[in-house]
Amino acid sequence: MKNLINRPRRLRRSESIRALVRETHVSADDFIYPLFVCEGEAVRREISSMPGQYNLSIDELVKEASEARQLGVRSVILFGLPKEKDAQGTDAFTDQGIVQRAIRALKQEVKDLIVVADNCLCEYTDHGHCGVVQDNEVLNDPTLDLLAKAAVEQAKAGADIIAPSNMMDGFVGAIRQALDENGFTHIPILSYAIKYASGFYGPFREAAGSTPQFGDRRSYQMDPANRREAMREAMLDIEQGADMLIVKPALAYLDVLSNLRERCDLPLAAYQVSGEYAMIKAAARLGWLDENRIMWETLTAIKRAGADLILTYYAKEAARQL
Ligand code: PBG
Repeated sequence: MKNLINRPRRLRRSESIRALVRETHVSADDFIYPLFVCEGEAVRREISSMPGQYNLSIDELVKEASEARQLGVRSVILFGLPKEKDAQGTDAFTDQGIVQRAIRALKQEVKDLIVVADNCLCEYTDHGHCGVVQDNEVLNDPTLDLLAKAAVEQAKAGADIIAPSNMMDGFVGAIRQALDENGFTHIPILSYAIKYASGFYGPFREAAGSTPQFGDRRSYQMDPANRREAMREAMLDIEQGADMLIVKPALAYLDVLSNLRERCDLPLAAYQVSGEYAMIKAAARLGWLDENRIMWETLTAIKRAGADLILTYYAKEAARQL
């Protein structure tokens, strides 16, 4: 018998004792469930690279959100697939835009659901970029006016939280000011403060039909190599009035999330994006990974790294098991 004083295994002997000393817990309260809303009726079209996720017409969206709410999910975030796209992304900032109609329906039909409105232009522009384009350049300041207009329309429709995601400089300030001027001082901003130019968004672009028609998003989304710059992005958004911040994607950027957790006391969210979900699904289909274990392991890792909230396509499935 070795005289070992420290035996960490003592606290791992049974599930009961492991539960007693567990440091990180995932709860259904943590989830924000991303949903894709499209035109039509009774449409529930599966996204091929995201099994279990759908393009939903408003009636089906209401069903999906109610089901999620009944399972304990408190919040959804909406992405729109408009009938028509144009250079400015008009559908994003009109009263009859697809997302504005969807927000109204959800607020009316699903009790106690928090509806977050993603605020961006890429799903609505014919060129697929997140802003106004001139001579193959994405213009910053003219884009801010459109985002601000979209935010006001989203708030008018009843959105509980506005989540600007397009990485133009000054977007939080512009949206804050427009919301305030229109009587929405009480609506919080959940800013995608730290959003990397990532290959992990691949399946989302299929789901939302938002692949850029030329070039890429590297002139506005962040370089995956940078961590200090991420802190700067976060601080700028806080100065402009962000109430909560998002780090996106999640798994490949947990160091950034952890770093931000130490520097910032606002609620933090991480977005487990489409490619993260698709990788797990694909490996599980091949029989190479146990999907359920990986789902819990990744969600737990995201919380352990410092997230309070997780935007995840697994929200409904995970809530079902909690
Ligand atoms: C842009 C936006 C993107 C995602 C959410 N909002 C994609 C992009 O920048 O191309 C990606 C989310 C995901 O991959 O799940 N409005």
